[in-house]
Amino acid sequence: MVEIEAPAKAILLGEHAVVYGKPALAVAIDLPLRMRLLPAEGWRLDQEEFQPRRRGYIAAALERAWQGGPLAMTIRSSIPPASGLGSSAAVTCATLAGAMTLAARTWDSRALASSAFDVEWAVQGAASPTDTSTIAHGGGILLRPAGSESSPLIDGHRSPLWELSRGARAWEVSAIEVPRLSLVVGNTGVKGRTTDLVAAVRARTEQDAAARAAIERIGALTMEGTEALLRGDLATLGQLMAEDHALLRSLGVSHPALEALVSGAAPVSLGAKLTGAGGGGSIIALTDDVERTAHAIVKAGGMPYVVEVDRQGTRVVGEAP
Ligand code: MEV
Repeated sequence: MVEIEAPAKAILLGEHAVVYGKPALAVAIDLPLRMRLLPAEGWRLDQEEFQPRRRGYIAAALERAWQGGPLAMTIRSSIPPASGLGSSAAVTCATLAGAMTLAARTWDSRALASSAFDVEWAVQGAASPTDTSTIAHGGGILLRPAGSESSPLIDGHRSPLWELSRGARAWEVSAIEVPRLSLVVGNTGVKGRTTDLVAAVRARTEQDAAARAAIERIGALTMEGTEALLRGDLATLGQLMAEDHALLRSLGVSHPALEALVSGAAPVSLGAKLTGAGGGGSIIALTDDVERTAHAIVKAGGMPYVVEVDRQGTRVVGEAP
């Protein structure tokens, strides 16, 4: 038996633009998913027959990492599904880590991030390695186009981790030192479909110069926001999150329920924006008063989660012969 824990993730700046090779800043957050895997007589998931067609991420992860016999798997997750918080990447990382551990293969967060990105790409189509790398490694993660110029401030606070590429795109993934942040997630309860939202943004950028300009500006403000974070200038980071939200709205990936939560949280936060693919899902608010922000999210019809940055990433939490 092996038991794996994987965190959720929140993108602070740069979603959607990162698919086009722009930078993104994300943190792993302490909403854990726990998965147990145990050799068994037949394939099971949560006491029921495992249906690979209905659980594409798990099936694709097992295809890559498990050559053994049937497994009984159980998942306990505090990550709301299809909420922009990385539930698919967490289940992918947990399945891969569990299968590799059961097969007595050594693995580290680099190997996990690489395989998890392969799985996400196979199941979801166009994607960046943001979610999978953040959940595999934990802490703060900065993605940038490989070979891009850096600033002394960013270079002084980042540790290069790995590079991942797909077609013409290559991303350099770094761990970035993130101070303690007061963050509140607000979930709308409306499910967003990442594949459709990424495809909608692609169609828009192909037809509309304003959409291409929005992607460029998101890339630039992500670097400005990362520098602000590293200077400890959370007021500027919050303003840039608000600007990022307005640009994402202009790209068509917001939703009335997201607008309600951002409007409710913004007056009592340093900044609030949708996080992840949008179309429903969640907002993330940076605040200096988590209780007021959480209360504002409830008043606006959302479910608040006061979260901390998870610094451990995906890990084995239990093992028995
Ligand atoms: C999804 O969490 C973030 C997107 O940028 C897609 C991706 O990066 O794969 C919308």
